[in-house]
Amino acid sequence: MGRGRLISFEGLDGSGKTTQLDMLERWLSTQHISYIRTREPGGTSLGVEIRQLLLNRPELAITPLAETFLFQADRAQHFAQLILPALARGTLVITDRCFDSSIAYQGVGRGVGATLVEQLSLLATQGYQPDLTILFDLDPVQARVRTDVAQRTDGSGEQQSRFDVEAEQFHHTVRQAFLDLASNHPARIKVLDASQSPEVVHQEIIALVGQLVL
Ligand code: TYD
Repeated sequence: MGRGRLISFEGLDGSGKTTQLDMLERWLSTQHISYIRTREPGGTSLGVEIRQLLLNRPELAITPLAETFLFQADRAQHFAQLILPALARGTLVITDRCFDSSIAYQGVGRGVGATLVEQLSLLATQGYQPDLTILFDLDPVQARVRTDVAQRTDGSGEQQSRFDVEAEQFHHTVRQAFLDLASNHPARIKVLDASQSPEVVHQEIIALVGQLVL
């Protein structure tokens, strides 16, 4: 049995990743392809605890460097406990975010340094990188509108996270950091125009994923 494949979905909050993950899951089922869907932060029991600290505890005043290490701790556990064993079994793994988020948000957005965060990430993943990264590119203003609407209508009552409340400039910086990563890693990172209709985006995703798994 061959090694499984790892696919990550990246982009700003509100860029439509979750809707597209749901649609991709339905497509994988119709193709009878088994897979694991997971996320960072929060893909393990430890990760769930770290996620709470990172997103919902503003009173902790977590510093940029501490924030960086917390995301990496989540990732180290996630790769060791879930992702790498699944890949070794030949399973397809799809993760909502991976280390490109750390490079874009902490490395560039928080100013910790892209190279440093990349090195820490590769330590956390034991050198492993996604086979395919799908980047949902969207103007932060449009992304903002989508998150606001979702928060009003989904009734989940999930609080706005530390990242949701950042100023608009922060999200512009993070978007550009993602685009720079994509131009530096064109074979791995594919950029999608997330302002298109969900059905069009879905077809583009199936074309990319199909190349890897069919
Ligand atoms: P996510 O689960 O996508 O948020 P939500 O449930 O609100 O849609 O991710 C949580 C936040 O964490 C998101 O704003 C991006 C941020 N993040 C980082 O800053 N660095 C990282 O390494 C990761 C994985 C996420």
